[in-house]
Amino acid sequence: MAIVEQENPLVEGLERTPVHPTTLIIFGGTGDLAQRKLLPAVYNLAHEGALPERFNLIGTARRDMPDEDFRNFARESITKYSRRHPDDKVLSSLLSRIRYVGAAFDDPKGYDEIARHAGEMDDEAGLPFNRIFYLATAPGFFETIAESLGAHGLDQRQSAEVRLVVEKPFGRDLESAQALNHALLSVFDERQIYRIDHYLGKETVQNILVLRFGNGIFEPLWNRSYIDNVQITAAEDIGIGTRAEYYDHSGALRDIVQNHLLQLLTILSMEPPVSFSADEVRNEKVKVLHAIRPPAVEAVPERVVRGQYAAGMAEGHDVPGYLEEQGVAPGSKTETYVALRLAIDNWRWAGVPIFLRAGKRLARKTTEIAVTLKPVPHLAFQQSGSLGVQPNQLVLSVQPNEGVSLSLVAKIPGAKMRVRPVNMEFLYGTSFMSQSPEAYERLILDTMRGDATLFARDDEVEAAWGIVDPILTAWEQNPDIPLPQYPAGSPGPPEANALLEGKDWRPL
Ligand code: BG6
Repeated sequence: MAIVEQENPLVEGLERTPVHPTTLIIFGGTGDLAQRKLLPAVYNLAHEGALPERFNLIGTARRDMPDEDFRNFARESITKYSRRHPDDKVLSSLLSRIRYVGAAFDDPKGYDEIARHAGEMDDEAGLPFNRIFYLATAPGFFETIAESLGAHGLDQRQSAEVRLVVEKPFGRDLESAQALNHALLSVFDERQIYRIDHYLGKETVQNILVLRFGNGIFEPLWNRSYIDNVQITAAEDIGIGTRAEYYDHSGALRDIVQNHLLQLLTILSMEPPVSFSADEVRNEKVKVLHAIRPPAVEAVPERVVRGQYAAGMAEGHDVPGYLEEQGVAPGSKTETYVALRLAIDNWRWAGVPIFLRAGKRLARKTTEIAVTLKPVPHLAFQQSGSLGVQPNQLVLSVQPNEGVSLSLVAKIPGAKMRVRPVNMEFLYGTSFMSQSPEAYERLILDTMRGDATLFARDDEVEAAWGIVDPILTAWEQNPDIPLPQYPAGSPGPPEANALLEGKDWRPL
């Protein structure tokens, strides 16, 4: 272990750079996200010594309860969901810095209370803390909370920063995203707003940038002359669980494609930024989003396939179909699967088909990007006994089995010139011997450090909605567009194969 650490001095987890004293205020403090992700992430930051030395947390939600009950809730959440077993000392110290405000999000008294608590915390320390308001509520409250923060003078402060973190979904189409941007920007400045897409906090997603821009060998190949096609998959084996209320109004296109998959695509296809400053990176991402040609509404049936899971098997058990899930509207037309073909109209990518697919209750959980290179112009090894010669493929595996693999054709040992594909692999697990931080840890830390590189800018979310909007319109205007069912536990509807025009989806 010691040797590995010496060889890899950067395997340190999260950086412990000094961060200005901060009060984090979580709206939706008793909700599912806070429980499963945010509170455990804050604990892990504390555990790593990455939190600011002076740090407070205020949870706020409708339910009324004393501070002590919220601390118990936080303790249980952390114990159940943290990636590491909590250390009693670290946990107790963190819990002692937590308070709670119970009020409806449109109740002015709640904001007075938040201001009072946060003010007391500043007074105790004798200096103004930065304040981060984290909107982890249902999206219907985002505008109300932002406006109320403004109305209570909580949007700015002298000699300390105020930031607003906004969870997804950011709007439900282009128009509502524009309206939400407008509402937030009428209270906060863009530099204060951090729109979360937790995929950007994943180590493997950031590694795509490092792979592309830290190694000389890929850039010469990273274009239409060498790349045949790109496939991005976000497959999940889980169903919608208890989230029908949200999911039945969302569907796979809004839930995964508009944000996570388009983010992966921009990182894969953007031009090298001049620096890794927030605006340089986001300028390049926005440029490539603008180069993606949204499908025409009439072309949607040929370019996009949707599906809905039927009853089937998952993890060895029978599972119900989407329409049988609790809370789903009878006869719902919400898609739990979507596959589409896009094109990027710029010099680097013109003519390279880009295939995206996402779905629930598929055969297994995997998120990956597969970049397939063009085949060699002439294959001289056509001897019998050669096995499945395929063009080289670079697979960036986001999760699980995080890593990168490159398929090569190699000679099968022996007297004959027979060949078969083999893989060259880098796996995080074996190369770094350390557990990667959870996406939310990195992202919460970045909000405290004031680094917005891994957050979406206003024009970026709007550009992404612009790409999926015609698809939503087509489905809305034409309910007869097929919505094939696929059995839970399968690779999705076979109709999606037609999009590939003779190529194959990566096996699931
Ligand atoms: C969320 C979606 O944004 O991402 C969920 O709302 C989905 O439906 C989740 O399950 C997937 O995230 P991850 O990190 O497990 O790939």
